[in-house]
Amino acid sequence: MLFDASKLIEIDKLGDERGLLTVIEENITVPFEIKRVFYIYETKSGVRRGFHAHFKTRQALICVSGSCKVYLDNIKRKKDVLLDSPNKVLILEPNDWHEMYDFSSDCVLLVLASHLYDAEDYIRDYNKFLEVYS
Ligand code: TYD
Repeated sequence: MLFDASKLIEIDKLGDERGLLTVIEENITVPFEIKRVFYIYETKSGVRRGFHAHFKTRQALICVSGSCKVYLDNIKRKKDVLLDSPNKVLILEPNDWHEMYDFSSDCVLLVLASHLYDAEDYIRDYNKFLEVYS
């Protein structure tokens, strides 16, 4: 299976004297059609969540308030990404095992997803993830 690599992009802040506005459009800012939106908020301090990869779901992660970090592992590389501005968008490909952590108390992590929720699309076992993507 060939996927693009996950990547962090910075999108425009449209600003004037009233403040800022940032736009995300499907198939333009994010490389997929947006089928589902969810957000993670009021995460308790010290919590780490995620711990999965996907078969097909592509996602875009944006901290619209506060900050958090995302650990990414696609077997070939492991890295940590800091989301600390509403104009930073992490395009997260299905083959990245991901864990979110270091949530600030005001963090609202917005997630745009390419597919509707399907528990069968999750790979929650790390050994299975290695089997699927090695
Ligand atoms: P979970 O996958 O555990 O969150 P995280 O990956 O951040 O650790 O999701 C928490 C619960 O929410 C779980 O019972 C599944 C449910 N859920 C949905 O029903 N629909 C969704 O789109 C998502 C993302 C989760």
